[in-house]
Amino acid sequence: MTILVTGGAGFIGSNFVLDWLASNDEPVVNLDALTYAGNRENLASLEGDARHVFVHGDICDRDLVDRLLAEHRPRAIVHFAAESHVDRSIHGPGEFMQTNVTGTFTLLEAARGYWSALETGEKAAFRFHHVSTDEVYGSLGPDDAPFTETHAYEPNSPYSASKAASDHLVRAWHHTYGLPVLTTNCSNNYGPYHFPEKLIPLLIVNALAGKPLPVYGDGRQIRDWLYVKDHCSAIREVLARGRLGETYNIGGWNEKPNIDIVKTVCALLDEMRPDAAGPYERLITYVTDRPGHDRRYAIDARKVERELGWRPAETFETGIRKTVRWYLDNQPWVQNVLSGGYRDWVSKQYGNQDACA
Ligand code: NAD
Ligand code: TYD
Repeated sequence: MTILVTGGAGFIGSNFVLDWLASNDEPVVNLDALTYAGNRENLASLEGDARHVFVHGDICDRDLVDRLLAEHRPRAIVHFAAESHVDRSIHGPGEFMQTNVTGTFTLLEAARGYWSALETGEKAAFRFHHVSTDEVYGSLGPDDAPFTETHAYEPNSPYSASKAASDHLVRAWHHTYGLPVLTTNCSNNYGPYHFPEKLIPLLIVNALAGKPLPVYGDGRQIRDWLYVKDHCSAIREVLARGRLGETYNIGGWNEKPNIDIVKTVCALLDEMRPDAAGPYERLITYVTDRPGHDRRYAIDARKVERELGWRPAETFETGIRKTVRWYLDNQPWVQNVLSGGYRDWVSKQYGNQDACA
């Protein structure tokens, strides 16, 4: 048996592939276009491992996807590939529509063709697992209950709108064609191999370089943080035992205002890598807010706990400590990521605010 993973050279996908092969021997075919966010180095420990087949290609390439399905005959597709950064979607939404909407449509069509021709037993066992986000639900007020799976879809950014569209396609392919789908909507992940354009790795990388720590607006926006390895274990559970056509919200039960995250990272760095110039909090710099910035996300993860017994293993305190430690111990990975392309992004996003030069 084999699974096909898309986007397995990105942050969550590479953690998923590494954890999958650490916990069982079922091979993985890993289809990834290696955009700026894809990094083969995340998978370096699998070099020469016959259980991992890496394919450099685009999920929008129907011929390629058809060929991979015919050749490897996977029993499941786990679909991570996406453009995933809200700020990039504000600067250039086109790629988000292409990969997140057209790419998901292409995969669904290829999966439908492949699945329809399977014999009865394989057909019943096949799964299409779509990895999505809590951002499709929009923004919560301070006293609102956390998002449940029945919350209305109210996406506010080009990124979340493109993910909402992909969720709707997955739902429709189940209802119309009977494709055996599962969808998970998770909160903000953090952990190893996180590309340093997102908040937590950006803070660590900038602090170590003595650069400003940019806080958008008043820093009181709330996110619900999930350690990436907990997310991966939740996907494994849902893939194994989730009910077909259902969606499951995955969260860490860790709602925190951004400014608290910034201060926590500073305190951990003060402890683990003190800076002679003084406490890292001196680098905190408030910058112009993100347009349309969602104020609060929070996940009600009781359904996945009730039905599948999944709960996160990490608290924010244990997960963030492991994460800071990982970045300190993996400086060559960080230095390789901070390439010319990364610098172009930083100057586009923060350049005229002198927050991160
Ligand atoms: P990421 O940006 O780190 O990685 C995305 C991967 O997809 C990269 O390896 C990239 O090369 C690949 N990719 C992009 N376009 C492709 C294409 N057309 N064909 C093939 N591969 C392509 O993203 P991530 O943070 O690992 O997120 C993975 C999934 O989880 C996404 O679907 C995202 O929407 C979802 N998600 C992420 C978070 C989070 O906090 N990071 C939270 C909720 C949901
Ligand atoms: P991010 O990591 O981009 O994830 P998302 O937008 O998907 O939630 O951002 C997390 C939060 O941190 C979000 O409220 C925006 C904020 N943020 C900053 O304040 N400064 C930054 O430099 C970045 C990248 C994000």
